[in-house]
Amino acid sequence: MSLKNDILSELFKSNDYISGEFIAEKYDKSRAAVWKAVKSLTKEGYSIDAVTNKGYKLFEDKNITSAQSIKSKMKTSADVLYYPSVDSTNNECKRLLAQGKQGVFLVVSDCQTAGRGRQGKAFVSPANTGIYFSLVIRPNTSFKNAVTATTAASVAVCMAVEELTDKKPVIKWVNDVYLDGRKICGILTEAITNFEDGTVESVIVGIGINLKKGAFPKELKDIVGFLDADINKNLLVARVIDNLVKINTGDYKTFIDYYRTHSMVIGQKIRIIKGDEQIEATALAIDQQGGLEVQLENGEKTVLRSGEISIRKI
Ligand code: BTN
Repeated sequence: MSLKNDILSELFKSNDYISGEFIAEKYDKSRAAVWKAVKSLTKEGYSIDAVTNKGYKLFEDKNITSAQSIKSKMKTSADVLYYPSVDSTNNECKRLLAQGKQGVFLVVSDCQTAGRGRQGKAFVSPANTGIYFSLVIRPNTSFKNAVTATTAASVAVCMAVEELTDKKPVIKWVNDVYLDGRKICGILTEAITNFEDGTVESVIVGIGINLKKGAFPKELKDIVGFLDADINKNLLVARVIDNLVKINTGDYKTFIDYYRTHSMVIGQKIRIIKGDEQIEATALAIDQQGGLEVQLENGEKTVLRSGEISIRKI
């Protein structure tokens, strides 16, 4: 880690002034080097107060995303990597895994130039609009399968939004988060399997949350929604990750009950989308594994385990 990153970690951890001498000693650098690094951080936009005989104190700007801020707010022990812009945080996780990166880690970005959605669709991720992040977990120590992870992620996002704002988000099966009838969050879960024995080595849970209006294409204007709340982005990411990890290690029944009570599809007339085909049905319930129980127009009942649905407007 660079000295600047070390200083940021210290400042985010502390609510009080930290002396330059303490930082210099801890990281085996001169006080002049610490001062130079602080000046450079100030130029980057960090608001750091420097007081003689007291040291440095950070006044956090909730609109600046940083790995150190997220880490300082997160209970989960994971490596956090921040990129102002990246093609896709899921892609970056795949590259890091291919390079042999170990353990649980989180990649966060303010902008994606090639954000990916489900079923090969693009996920438009303009700068200054949302927050995009992917968590790499290891199924042997964590989630049993990607389906649980994807359902859990939508619950983790809803819980974080409810904790930090007075908004009431809901979930459209499988894992889209909606607010006031518009999609504010999309989740793409990808499994990396071992080529030789077919076992899942890692699961990448990619989450994109639209925070405020931005440069979205015209055709998305009526579909995309925004959280539109005065919150700290870093805290939002930290809470989502902590919730996700807690759900995994906690009581599965409580989690699936939360998922059910936040479902916006139960009792609704829906369309099941299968390629070019669309089948009309009614959504009846969510089963214990997160499957959607539906009744088709001919009266037949079936359970959907994956796929896309749309809610019919009557
Ligand atoms: C969807 O709604 O179709 C899923 C969208 C998933 C978007 C997130 S943003 C972070 C991560 N990186 C990606 O390229 N996609 C996911």
